[in-house]
Amino acid sequence: MKLPRCTITTSMLVLRPLRRGTAWSTFHWTENTEALDAMEMSAPAWSRWRWYKVIRAYTGPSFITHEIWRRADNKLIGLHIAHVEGGRIAKLAIIIPDPADRGANIAEEARAVVIDLLFDRTPVKIVHGTVAARNFASAFLYQKLGFRQDAILKGRLLTDNGRIDKLVFSLLPDEWAANRPPLPKGTVT
Ligand SMILES: CC(C)(COP(=O)(O)OP(=O)(O)OC[C@H]1O[C@@H](n2cnc3c(N)ncnc32)[C@H](O)[C@@H]1OP(=O)(O)O)[C@@H](O)C(=O)NCCC(=O)NCCS
Repeated sequence: MKLPRCTITTSMLVLRPLRRGTAWSTFHWTENTEALDAMEMSAPAWSRWRWYKVIRAYTGPSFITHEIWRRADNKLIGLHIAHVEGGRIAKLAIIIPDPADRGANIAEEARAVVIDLLFDRTPVKIVHGTVAARNFASAFLYQKLGFRQDAILKGRLLTDNGRIDKLVFSLLPDEWAANRPPLPKGTVT
């Protein structure tokens, strides 16, 4: 099945399908090692080409990846990534690299409208994500959105400071229908 390439508009955000060329205007994101580490995307040294290849991979046919644009200042502030595995399971990731852009419920809103898209307009029946046990922002975001913590993968994340635990979260359509936060749905075009 061909995955939809839609723009989703909310009062605060425009989520646009990721374009490969966005790699050139976002290369400075590679300076934020904290955010990239959280995405398990760290690299010993970034080049523009290496970053382009990461971005290009996220535009592949099994991905629904959105650029997160804040409408107030028309600024690209992050990415939301959904990797659709086998057509019915989507693995989610999100990054808002600049800490100054965080804490305004942008990730929550972006994630909610992408989950709507996945459950309403694709055959996806499970969404899930993994997070380092110390990544409180991401773990609390999953919980706020009604994800269930399914497992703790002991020591499964290799960091420069040793192995740490990983948490696995998932969400089913009926759970989403019952617990979706009271956010307006986005407009899909
Ligand atoms: C995780 C991340 C995307 C959150 O982005 P954000 O826009 O700041 O998050 P929001 O403002 O939408 O927060 C929504 C909820 O998440 C939780 N949350 C967010 N940041 C938090 C923090 N620092 N501590 C605890 N909970 C936090 C809260 O429950 C919050 O709801 P509240 O505002 O009612 O308390 C951002 O911190 C980030 O990009 N981190 C680096 C990359 C990463 O960790 N990605 C996730 C792994 S895939």
